Amino acid sequence: MAARETPGTDLPVPLTDIRPAGTNDIYDIYMLNCKAFVESWSVMALGMWQERGDDLDVWYDTDGNLAAYYLGQDVLDEVHIMQLAVAPQFRRQGLGSRLMQYEIERKRASGMAQMLLEVRASNRAAQKLYTSLGFQVVGRRDGYYAPLENHPPEDALLMRFDF
Ligand SMILES: CC(C)(COP(=O)(O)OP(=O)(O)OC[C@H]1O[C@@H](n2cnc3c(N)ncnc32)[C@H](O)[C@@H]1OP(=O)(O)O)[C@@H](O)C(=O)NCCC(=O)NCCS
Repeated sequence: MAARETPGTDLPVPLTDIRPAGTNDIYDIYMLNCKAFVESWSVMALGMWQERGDDLDVWYDTDGNLAAYYLGQDVLDEVHIMQLAVAPQFRRQGLGSRLMQYEIERKRASGMAQMLLEVRASNRAAQKLYTSLGFQVVGRRDGYYAPLENHPPEDALLMRFDF
């Protein structure tokens, strides 16, 4: 699968180009998904997403470890960001911001109007990252995240980036 041009090479870890995920990447994505989110997707759901051709981009280090991935969907002229995850050992090194900047520039170039996402009200790290990129909180969805074992229901903040 063709790699897209990855912006910048000044990150502290050696990384390959960001590229669309292939079938062989799904298990790596699943494993990171389980580490990064309270509620993970199944291998099947991730595989279906990849097969359908929605955005599922991966970023590996040069040793073959999945460092980060992005999952999103275009709906008319809106980009719906479903997941952004950076592997724990690669966090706070600028990868999350850089991957999002990459996706923002791709979507700007393809003429999209805005990007939208829901984020857990308690997820201050992600909120700070998105705010630093120009996203704004535009709403709150009460009880958006259903209760799970060891997790009470939680509100979502709706954040939006306008091109
Ligand atoms: C949120 C997440 C993607 C951030 O990735 P990252 O590569 O560590 O982020 P960056 O290094 O690019 O950080 C960018 C900015 O975001 C903020 N930030 C990131 N992680 C933070 C943390 N743990 N605490 C506070 N602020 C944080 C900071 O402002 C940071 O800038 P700084 O390092 O100059 O202070 C990563 O922590 C993650 O995968 N979390 C689990 C999954 C998740 O929550 N995804 C988003 C849900 S929509």
